[in-house]
Amino acid sequence: MLVLGIESSCDETSVAVVKDGKEVLANIILSQDEHTKFGGVVPEVASRSHLKTIVPIYEEALEKASVKLSDIDLIAATMGPGLVGPLLVGLTFAKGLAYASSIPFVCVNHMEGHLSANYLAHSGIDERHLSLIISGGHTMLLEVKSFGEYELLGNTKDDAAGEAYDKVAKIMGLGYPGGAVLDKLAKDGDSSYMKFPRAMMHDKSYMFSYSGLETAVSLHIKSLSDDEFAKNKANIAASFQEAAVEVLVAKTLRAAKEKHINHITLAGGVAANSRVRSMFTERIRGNQKLFYPPISLCTDNAAMIAAAGYYRFKKEGASELITNAIPYLKMV
Ligand code: KG4
Ligand code: ZN
Repeated sequence: MLVLGIESSCDETSVAVVKDGKEVLANIILSQDEHTKFGGVVPEVASRSHLKTIVPIYEEALEKASVKLSDIDLIAATMGPGLVGPLLVGLTFAKGLAYASSIPFVCVNHMEGHLSANYLAHSGIDERHLSLIISGGHTMLLEVKSFGEYELLGNTKDDAAGEAYDKVAKIMGLGYPGGAVLDKLAKDGDSSYMKFPRAMMHDKSYMFSYSGLETAVSLHIKSLSDDEFAKNKANIAASFQEAAVEVLVAKTLRAAKEKHINHITLAGGVAANSRVRSMFTERIRGNQKLFYPPISLCTDNAAMIAAAGYYRFKKEGASELITNAIPYLKMV
């Protein structure tokens, strides 16, 4: 089955063609750079940019996959969560295409898309597993009982993990979005430079919190002279990263132990982080197995939407064409 996936929930316009929920024939991603100068995504600018680029990106995806629209068996598009204007561009384009060509349409939860990136990248993940989805807008620890059946073990009380990276990067003058830049800078730093707070790490719940860590980093930077800050930039990045990542790893591995779950998947933009990957790898034990997608499938892309659409369609068939965008769509 050939699935055309469409993603436009934030500032990536992406169209993909995926075969049988597994083989990526094309995954064209355009990251809008118009937002950099504003220090964050401007919804109206994002909507207009999606509108301008969605058709050429769709044409490029079909060409790259060497298929025609008439070869496509299913059209999948993100319906939420995300920014309403950007969501509407991709969703409306997908529904129009489906209606005009009489191809079945299925709408996809963006977070289930992130989770599905692991099914694209790996075989042999236990149906029941633990998934840590860490993105710019979400921090979710889920028990996946089967595809589509989830129990939310924990999420964030305030900012998401990616949001914390972006805020700290902004304070440090690293630009927006700063997660990947901060990750790179931290590689040259010493994480023992400063012990920043690990919020809620020993708390019995699986909840996360990042605002205290952001404040601690900000106050520390304010206490430094310009010279001291310049000299310790990489150390601050490494120390922040160690604190941010340690809570994610500790809580996820505690949940795995308490729930007797051996397979752990990571997903979302922050799953691209080098320290997230290395600390999980260092700390898993015995029969535990770690899965994460390649970096190109961690950050927003349409291949993951096509994969999720494939599994959704198999589970419950097509969606109605009247389906609307839902900015705060929940997964659980
Ligand atoms: O999943 P994603 O592409 O979009 C959302 O659904 O939010 O995640 C984007 C987030 C941003 O906050 C970005 O800074 C962060 O993922 N990110 C990273 C890295 N690459 C992307 N954070 C830390 N380390 C990275 N290497
Ligand atoms: Zn995302």
